[in-house]
Amino acid sequence: MILKEYFGTKAGMWDTRVLATDISQNALSAAQNAQYDEESLSKLPAGWKTKYFNRTSEPGVWTVKPELKSNVIFRTFNLMEPIRFKIPFDVIFCRNVMIYFDQDTKNQLVNRFYDATVPGGYLLIGHSESIDKSATRYNYVKPALYRK
Ligand SMILES: C[S@@+](CC[C@H](N)C(=O)[O-])C[C@H]1O[C@@H](n2cnc3c(N)ncnc32)[C@H](O)[C@@H]1O
Repeated sequence: MILKEYFGTKAGMWDTRVLATDISQNALSAAQNAQYDEESLSKLPAGWKTKYFNRTSEPGVWTVKPELKSNVIFRTFNLMEPIRFKIPFDVIFCRNVMIYFDQDTKNQLVNRFYDATVPGGYLLIGHSESIDKSATRYNYVKPALYRK
């Protein structure tokens, strides 16, 4: 939604695809199902709900419009494995996942993220998380935001 808002009519000229991964097929299925209740959409900017979501047959439940959803590629992926996606990422969001990993595992994962990020690209982590600034090649920008 943010990319579409930012690029506007020029969105088609940019690669705005999002790769969405999780180790859990259940988590991916829920994401692919893309059903949201009113409460979970309540903080969207005015007008975005009707712009980007359709009502479902279930009262109070909305689903993402197909043209937005088709921009997202869903894949199962274990973050413990090498990152072998073909195109380097402009932005990586890894929020509230590294809480499960010990420091060494986190450092190695952030290192793999770095190698998979374009120069100037970003890593965003959860607000309650931190990464070891002395162990990463990313530059710290501000809490939860790092740049290659
Ligand atoms: C607390 S949820 C966070 C989900 C989402 N990032 C968010 O902020 O709402 C943690 C997710 O990490 C996934 N996860 C845990 N270990 C993983 C791994 N090794 N590789 C990929 N995903 C993993 C879990 O399946 C779960 O969906």
